[in-house]
Amino acid sequence: MKAVTLVILSAMITSFGAIRAGDKDKKLDLLVQQALDHARVQLLRSVEQIGDSVMYPRSTNPNGSWRKVAPEDWTSGFFPGLLWYMYEYTRDVQFRNAAERFTEGLERLQHFPRTHDLGFMVFNSYGQGYRLHPNEKYKNVILQTAKTLTSRFNPTVGCIKSWDNPKWEYPVIVDNMMNLELLLWVAKNGGPKEYYDLAISHADKTIQNHFRDDGGTFHVVSYDTTNGDVRVKNTHQGFADHTTWARGQAWAIYGYTMTYRFTKEKRYLDAARKAADYFLKHLPCDHVPYWDFQAPGIPVEPRDASASAIVASALFELSGYVQKKDREGYLNAAKNILTALSEKPYISTGTLSSGILNHATGNRPGGTEIDVSLIYGDYYFVEALLRYQNLK
Ligand code: GLY
Repeated sequence: MKAVTLVILSAMITSFGAIRAGDKDKKLDLLVQQALDHARVQLLRSVEQIGDSVMYPRSTNPNGSWRKVAPEDWTSGFFPGLLWYMYEYTRDVQFRNAAERFTEGLERLQHFPRTHDLGFMVFNSYGQGYRLHPNEKYKNVILQTAKTLTSRFNPTVGCIKSWDNPKWEYPVIVDNMMNLELLLWVAKNGGPKEYYDLAISHADKTIQNHFRDDGGTFHVVSYDTTNGDVRVKNTHQGFADHTTWARGQAWAIYGYTMTYRFTKEKRYLDAARKAADYFLKHLPCDHVPYWDFQAPGIPVEPRDASASAIVASALFELSGYVQKKDREGYLNAAKNILTALSEKPYISTGTLSSGILNHATGNRPGGTEIDVSLIYGDYYFVEALLRYQNLK
């Protein structure tokens, strides 16, 4: 074949590929619009369903209604956070009023030292409110909450303690990377600078001890408080100690991407990529993982749509931090996941669920919240939808 024919052929193939990619983006534009409309309707219904109660939606019951929890539950910040996102998207004052009410219902958490999840609880509620409408009242709650969270830091171990569970001496779960956002933000926004060092210490120790060589992560690492050594590596919500719990992996991807955002330290970007590459390599072809990547009954195991929602959101951010040659890969993966979640069977349109996404799994070994809607899955899904829209 003549060189000129080859050039024409290759130009045709390239432009055909570009048209197909353009078609895919157009389809996703429409799906994202529909998913955000659906989220708006579901959130208004949820506000109505909860009424004057001071409880917070966490996961759906078999009849589709919300199972509600008190402010002290680790998931309480996601509903107000969702309402802030929807207010940002619609500028509808109904969402702002509801967001304020549910955010301010969490005020007492600033003095609640019994959980490491204060980042999720207060930064996703007060933090989102402050981002949209900076004010001293919200900032003071955020600063005090960060102070309370640091009371769980042990300098010998170099980490924040996750659970006060006597089964372990000093358990640290991979999920806990997410709570560093509160400390990193406070350190950069008028709070004590040493919070930055505590967060770095925790993130470094987690790289050292939670990651396996293949990029999969352990869920729980427990330390010896006398010398900081690792005592055991276990799982709590995964299938086995040596397997990779899908949502734990998602927290690692998001957590290290966020830590890189604040620090610009390459080792955190590398950790985020290592975790992301593992997740994407092990993802089934419909882009939503089973609850554990090595669950024994695959393909007859529950999915965890919440893990994919967290990862889609994280990958939109991560794709902005890597070199051009790697960007498309992460961006396409994020778009593929978002497309899958925005279509049946994952989007809850036309089902009984009060949530936005179906087929998420909370704790399979514990036998709770299996194949339901989870408020945190919904939160990261809406965040990912908005991040997609903000790419434009
Ligand atoms: N952080 C608890 C969970 O992901 O289930």
